[in-house]
Amino acid sequence: MFNYKYLLQVFCFGIILVVQKTMQNTTLCTFPPGFKFGTATSAYQIEGAWNVSGKTPSIWDFATHNNFESIIDRSNGDIACDSYNQIDVDIANLQLLNVSFYRFSISWTRLLPNAGNNFINPDGVRYYNEVIDKLIAHNIDPMVTIFHWDLPQSLQDLGGWTNKLTIEYYLQFARTCFSLFGDRVKTWITFNEISMYCVSAYDKKSLAPFASLSGIGTYLCAHYMLLAHGRAYRIYKKDFIHQKGIVGLSIDSPWYFPATNTANDKMAAMRAIITGFDWLAHPIFSQTGDYPLFMRKRIDYNSKQQGFKESRLPRFTTKEKAILQGSADFLGLNHYTSKLASMPMSEKASEMTSYEIDRSFDISFDPKWPKSARNHFKVVPQGLRKLLLYIRDTYNNPIVYITENGYAGDHSEYIDDHDRVSYTNLYLTEILKAIVIDKCNVTKYTSWSFMDNFEWHDGYTLRFGMFHVDFNDPKRKRTPKKSMYAYRNIIRFGTLPRCLSFEKSI
Ligand code: NOJ
Repeated sequence: MFNYKYLLQVFCFGIILVVQKTMQNTTLCTFPPGFKFGTATSAYQIEGAWNVSGKTPSIWDFATHNNFESIIDRSNGDIACDSYNQIDVDIANLQLLNVSFYRFSISWTRLLPNAGNNFINPDGVRYYNEVIDKLIAHNIDPMVTIFHWDLPQSLQDLGGWTNKLTIEYYLQFARTCFSLFGDRVKTWITFNEISMYCVSAYDKKSLAPFASLSGIGTYLCAHYMLLAHGRAYRIYKKDFIHQKGIVGLSIDSPWYFPATNTANDKMAAMRAIITGFDWLAHPIFSQTGDYPLFMRKRIDYNSKQQGFKESRLPRFTTKEKAILQGSADFLGLNHYTSKLASMPMSEKASEMTSYEIDRSFDISFDPKWPKSARNHFKVVPQGLRKLLLYIRDTYNNPIVYITENGYAGDHSEYIDDHDRVSYTNLYLTEILKAIVIDKCNVTKYTSWSFMDNFEWHDGYTLRFGMFHVDFNDPKRKRTPKKSMYAYRNIIRFGTLPRCLSFEKSI
């Protein structure tokens, strides 16, 4: 006999699916109320004024002046965007862009020129007070990164982030920032991209201090930065809680897709995430704390094989583990691209100490992925959604702020940056899917970058900005690019362009 009850059930289910789909289509246009859009820079990349009014050299001043062949175009940040002298222009442009918040960093040596003694440079205080006050006067929330790679050279001379003492100096810096600016700054990022910094500085020699301590300095650097982060967080919660701010850090990570469907390549992709993202996230955001077990075992094993008495991966004490666990009010995520991971044909020779050898997987790219001006930054928006899902499932759906995401153009780029417009739309679409469909807790998006700036060892050969900067003009003229107008519309309407009748769909 024909089962009408069953037919009715199927029919109702179908209706529910259609309704859900329609709702998703409309909600897949608009960001939830309260979602905030911002943009970002960092001190060395934009400020210039490298030696004025008491500022002393950072490792970037030192490296670009003494080791200039490490910078592709042999340039430096002596003037950069001249933002030190152009606060009003920058604020007017931020206002034009209509952002809710602006992420910038504080130059350590402008504020504390003699790391280690208590002298606070009045000009540093004046400059950052002015930036913060003017932002607030224009309704733009300051989001401040305490350390964005410009370590005082005087601390580098003592070993930099491979010296445990640097933690104490950093805490003095962080405490100074909280007490001088915390009445107005309510969002703090303790560290920008610990893994990019430590790996590039010590393994790849592509960021200052361009040191050769491969597979050793790399882990020490990240270990001490993590400890400094944890302790800064606890200091804020103990002594500055009345300021009612929040503290987190920005972790960088691509997403890794397995190169093929084989179990081996799937394992390689997992290895890549564990030894990249989880290395820094696990001690802070996991239920168990500490480094991921895979890293512990693998680096302990490799170290033993190499004749080390102790593992090259340092250990946390029980107390340190506790300080780190839960030491972030949000997870800042810097994400630009994805890669393919595959298992190497054979495990690489182990007599050399190296982070890459410890990780042990091969990298490649799907030829179908659109390119950018940076070789290894392909346009793979779906990778961001995967990474957000991974974070949701691995770390109990923490609050995530995307603290960087952006497109690399080359030095010849002017204002017709269609590729950047398309990149932003595609990545924001995936973020919206992650929020609406996957229920990921993403509440802020930060586009990198506000304007073209000094791109570290790539000098001025790459452009990430929504404002073009003319680096041949002594005034460093800024001109809005297409992406500035496109992002401004997204911010105004909280809606993706394809859903706005007056914007062409992408
Ligand atoms: C990472 C860094 O935080 C930032 O300083 C850099 O300019 C961008 N990503 C682009 O490479």
